[in-house]
Amino acid sequence: MKRIILITGSNRGLGKATGLKLCEHGHEVIFTSRNLNNLKAIEQEVQAKKYNASFFELDVCNLDSIINLKKEIQKKYDHIDTLINNAGILNDRNDSILNLDHQLLHQTMNTNLFNPLYMIQQFQDLIKKSSNGVIVNISSVLGQLESMATGMPSYRISKCAINAVTKVVSEELRDFNIKVNSIHPGWVQTDMGGSEASLTIDEAVPGLVWAATLDQDGPTGKFFFNQKEIPW
Ligand SMILES: NC(=O)c1ccc[n+]([C@@H]2O[C@H](COP(=O)([O-])OP(=O)(O)OC[C@H]3O[C@@H](n4cnc5c(N)ncnc54)[C@H](OP(=O)(O)O)[C@@H]3O)[C@@H](O)[C@H]2O)c1
Repeated sequence: MKRIILITGSNRGLGKATGLKLCEHGHEVIFTSRNLNNLKAIEQEVQAKKYNASFFELDVCNLDSIINLKKEIQKKYDHIDTLINNAGILNDRNDSILNLDHQLLHQTMNTNLFNPLYMIQQFQDLIKKSSNGVIVNISSVLGQLESMATGMPSYRISKCAINAVTKVVSEELRDFNIKVNSIHPGWVQTDMGGSEASLTIDEAVPGLVWAATLDQDGPTGKFFFNQKEIPW
C-alpha cells in the first residue's frame, strides 16, 4: 500500500536517506526542513527519478511553523499515513548534568521532546484519517534507563522522555489502531553520529523504513533497534 509519509528534519542525515528510500519503495514523502533551500538538491533528485514527494518549510522549534505546516499540508493531502519525528540535536557531548547550560537544556528539550509531541498533537487528526496510521519517534539507546550514564545529559534526558511520549501516545491512540513506536537507528555515520560510527546510513535506513511502514497488525508502544524490540 502506498503511504503518505511526513518526515521532520529530512534535508540531511537519516531523515533525508529514509525519505529517499521510502520514495524508492513507491511511497509519497513529505520532506521538511527549516530552510527550504536545503531541500533543493533533494527536490531535483526526486524529480529526476519521478518519485512522488513534496517539500515544506518546518522549524520544529517554532510552534507557529508547525501550525503553518499543518495548514499547508491540509491544502494538498486529506490524510497522513506516517509521521516520522526525526529532527534532533545533540549539543552537549562533554557536558556534566551538574553545570549544564540552561539554554542548551531548553533547546534540546524543545527540539527532541516538546516539538515532536506538538507535531503529534497537530497532525493526529490527519493520521486518524489513515486506514493504518503510524507514528515513529526517532529515539536513542542513550535514553535507555537501564543503561543511563553520564555525558550528553540533555540529549539522554530528551530521548528518555520521548520514549515516555511514545508509551503514553500509543495508549491514547490504540483504539484508532495507530501504531506509535520509538526507534533507535543505531550509531550511524551522519553529522551527528560522526565518521567513527559503526553503521553507514544505508545500513541504518531499513530499520526506519520498516517502522514507518508497519502492517495493520504491527506492534505499538515499543522500542526497536533494527526491527528487534529493546528495553526502555
Ligand atoms: N546518528 C546517530 O548515530 C544517531 C543515533 C541515535 C539516534 N539518532 C537520532 O536520529 C535522528 C536523526 O539524526 P541524524 O544522525 O540524521 O542527525 P543529523 O545528520 O545531525 O541531522 C539532524 C536533522 O535534524 C534537523 N533539525 C535539527 N533541528 C531542527 C529544527 N529546529 N527544525 C527542523 N529541523 C531540525 C537538521 O536540520 P538542519 O540541517 O536545518 O540543522 C537535520 O536535518 C535524530 O533524532 C537523532 O537524535 C541518531
